[in-house]
Amino acid sequence: MSYYSPGLAGVPAAKSRISYLDGQKGILEYRGFRIELLAEKSDFVETAYLLLFGRLPTASELRSFRADLCAHRRIKYRITDLIKCLPEYGHPMDALQAAVAALGMFYPAKKVRDPEVQYHSSVRLIAKLPTLVAAHARMRHGDDPIPPRDDLSHAANFLYMLTGKEPDPMMAEVLDVALILHAEHTMNASTFSGLVTASTLADAYTVVSSAIGTLSGPLHGGANEQVIDMLLEIGSAANVRPYIEKKLAAGEKMMGFGHREYKVKDPRATILQTLMQKMFDRHGRSPLYAIALEAERVGVDRLGSKGVYPNVDFFSGIVYEKVGIEKDLFTPVFAMARVSGWLAHWIEQLKENHIFRPTEIYEGEHEQRYLPLDQRS
Ligand code: ACO
Repeated sequence: MSYYSPGLAGVPAAKSRISYLDGQKGILEYRGFRIELLAEKSDFVETAYLLLFGRLPTASELRSFRADLCAHRRIKYRITDLIKCLPEYGHPMDALQAAVAALGMFYPAKKVRDPEVQYHSSVRLIAKLPTLVAAHARMRHGDDPIPPRDDLSHAANFLYMLTGKEPDPMMAEVLDVALILHAEHTMNASTFSGLVTASTLADAYTVVSSAIGTLSGPLHGGANEQVIDMLLEIGSAANVRPYIEKKLAAGEKMMGFGHREYKVKDPRATILQTLMQKMFDRHGRSPLYAIALEAERVGVDRLGSKGVYPNVDFFSGIVYEKVGIEKDLFTPVFAMARVSGWLAHWIEQLKENHIFRPTEIYEGEHEQRYLPLDQRS
């Protein structure tokens, strides 16, 4: 019998030079750079360049990459019209997936091995995702979309397109770091789903729309929303232990806890906490933070022996809420960051492509007799 690992745990699905994770030591690197270093010194656009092209850009390369991203922030009226037709009660991740799939029809990019096509598809997707998210977020409330501004950074422009106000620089900086932290994470579920799609030589828009669909689930990107629901439901630090005990006794998971790879605290969660502290010092503490700290203490006490610790989603929702982002936009913001990792894997996959076609262990029947309808019980 073939070796079988449920969820493909521990099974390498690709060889990659993009990111590295040591789940025992809590280390994450993009292209050999520690995540702590990139969070401190880089910005999202430079990090996206690093992920896509494998090295830090020179000053002129970075200038021209930034300019290309700025030039492609706008979306066509017909895409805005398409988003307007979507139900206002639909989830923004579904809207994003539909809009990205539609985007591909406007920018034919089927010659996927052509480096020009790879560059322009990547630039368009990284540049336009924030515009799509912000346009849907506004139109579902009956507001007009706000066109992007070229003089603002990637993160600041997104916040501007959401509200029409130039954001506080610290809020934009915090969001920018959160985008760096979410940009890439080895062979996670959405990257894998994007790679499977890429391996059929589908175009980048199709690859990214597959990955967005996979990211939307509550066990992956969708966990950040559920953490906020959980903290609100807990209501106070005093209620943390009884709430968690009841949840675990019912066999339920604590959202924002646990990771297939990390058996210690996710290093991205630690960086987010430091960032939050800076933000709280300037803009006041979020009331949910005290509950989150107590939930971390109790969660680690109850689950730490299984190697289950807070993951990045445990704190990202609190950060996004403080920055002024609506709860159901948390996962689309995650997608705005992760698109750079998905595209880096897409480009890498095409260098030595093999279509994904795993096998399965068949456990069903053989040689069944076909009974006419009137003889079946
Ligand atoms: N709460 C309670 N117990 C947990 C949790 C949790 N959040 N996570 C894992 N465990 C327990 C499991 O019940 C299991 O216990 P057992 O051995 O007694 O049966 C053990 O830890 C191992 O857990 P698995 O579910 O086998 O771990 P797996 O690697 O399959 O799952 C996952 C990882 C899906 C992330 C899981 O930890 C989970 O569901 N967490 C909550 C959702 C979440 O926060 N997702 C975001 C992940 S990060 C990201 O996508 C950006």
